[in-house]
Formats: sequence, structure tokens, C-alpha cells
Amino acid sequence: MGRVAVVTGGTRGIGHAISIALQRKGYRVAASYHGNDEAARQFQAETGIPVYKFDAGDWAQCEKAVAQITRDVGPIEVLVNNAGITRDGMLHRMTKENWDAVIRTNLDSVFNMTRLVIDSMRARSFGRIISISSINGRKGQMGQANYSAAKAGLLGFTKAVAQEGAAKGITVNVIAPGYIATEMVMAVPKDVLETKILPQIPVGRLGQAEEIARCVAFLAADDAGFITGACLDANGGQYMA
Ligand code: CAA
Repeated sequence: MGRVAVVTGGTRGIGHAISIALQRKGYRVAASYHGNDEAARQFQAETGIPVYKFDAGDWAQCEKAVAQITRDVGPIEVLVNNAGITRDGMLHRMTKENWDAVIRTNLDSVFNMTRLVIDSMRARSFGRIISISSINGRKGQMGQANYSAAKAGLLGFTKAVAQEGAAKGITVNVIAPGYIATEMVMAVPKDVLETKILPQIPVGRLGQAEEIARCVAFLAADDAGFITGACLDANGGQYMA
């Protein structure tokens, strides 16, 4: 039987493509979601992948969900921390609520989920933790002080936990997607997208969610054990660290 993989925010956008790619590779996938019941229902009907509704930013809800998934599907061996939101605005107009919401959903969630699977991964001497950061955590982005801070936080978290997990067969990596054609990016004002962002992408187009899913499948594989603490940039050449 395939390994058990959990994808947070796994029913829409990049997460949707990741869930499907892992399922095709033979993983037993569980996908979490928080808000959109209809998208989750449709996703489950189309893919047969079980969905779990909880707020990844909430410790107690994660605790319950991880226990439930472990009972239903099995001990989690691959964790993909993908859930994320944007609340864009210049810092001088950013509210405390929008700062807190983004840090909670994009960064606290990664602590919550990783902390809750790490003991079982250590006990089994195998684990793959893959977090979806962003080009904007690498380079910073105007209008995204909250999002850039959270996504940069994932880089530090990954490097620390990679060192801790190395001797236990647990790899910890981040992927930093550029601008991918999802609802999140399509919410950027059209003129900003066309005049400020697209011209900065040497490949000349937005990325596809499947192109990020491919990176996840690569890092999740059993034979990717020598890659840890790494950041895989997939941004069409927009930012070369
Ligand atoms: N790059 C360069 N310039 C930008 C820019 C960008 N990404 N975004 C905005 N600007 C420019 C605007 O064109 C404008 O310049 P001019 O005055 O010369 O026209 C100036 O900054 C102010 O912009 P707005 O008039 O739009 O000001 P605002 O206060 O109404 O909104 C904003 C500012 C919130 C930054 C808004 O422009 C915005 O949402 N920009 C997009 C920010 C962005 O890139 N978000 C990424 C979302 S997708 C994502 O996060 C996924 C991922 O990981 C990549």
C-alpha cells in the first residue's frame, strides 16, 4: 500500500493539483480544506480523495483532524503544508486583523501540522515535510508585508527542522512558487498583473498548478532522501536567488 500523504488546502488551487499528483503516484491522500464546502464536495466526488474540514491555523482543530486521519487512512508519512491566504494591502493601510489572519493561516498552520506528525515520523524513521512558500517570501512583495513575512518564516522553519529530522529519515523542504494561474493570483488587480507582474516573468506566462505538484512529487519520493533543508524555486525565472 502507498504511503499516506496529507495536503492542507488540498481541494483547490495548487493544493488540488498536488493531491491529484500524489494520488496518481500511488499515495493514499487525504486533503484538508477550511471554507469552501462545495469545492470540497466536488473534489471528493471527482477524485475519491477523502476531505477533512478544519482550520489549519487552529491547534485544537489540527489535533483532532490528525488523529482522525490517522484512524481513517493511516499514520501520516508525507505532509504537504499548502494552506494559505492573502490579505494584500500596503503596510500603512494594513489592519492588525489582516496581519494576524495571514500569519495564523500561513505560518502557525505549519507549526501545528508539522508538530502533530513529527512524533510518528520519528518513530517510523521516515517522513517528508514539504511546505509551499512563495517567491514573495524570497524577495518580498509590496502590498504583502504579512504574506512575505509568513512565507519567509517557512524558510527558517524548514532549515531548523531539517537539521532535527535528518538523522531520523525525515526530510524537510520548501517549494517557492512564482505567480501561478490560480484564483489567488487572479484576484490581483488585472492592470497590476498585466503591467507589473507578467513582464517580470522571463518565461512569459503564469505557471500552472501542475508544475508545482510535480515539484512536490519529486521531493516526496522515497529516493529524495538526500535533499533536505532545500528551497525549490519554480517561478519562470522571475527571481533567481
Ligand atoms: N509590482 C510592482 N508595482 C506594483 C505592484 C507589483 N506587484 N503592485 C502594485 N504596484 C504599483 C501599482 O501599479 C501602483 O503604481 P502606480 O501608482 O505607478 O500606478 C502602486 O504600486 C500602488 O498600487 P495601487 O494603486 O494598486 O495601490 P493600492 O493601495 O490600491 O493597492 C496593492 C496596492 C495592495 C499592492 C495592490 O496593487 C495589489 O494587490 N498588488 C498586487 C500585490 C501582489 O503581487 N500580490 C500577490 C498575490 S498572489 C500571491 O501572493 C501568490 C504568490 O505566492 C505569488
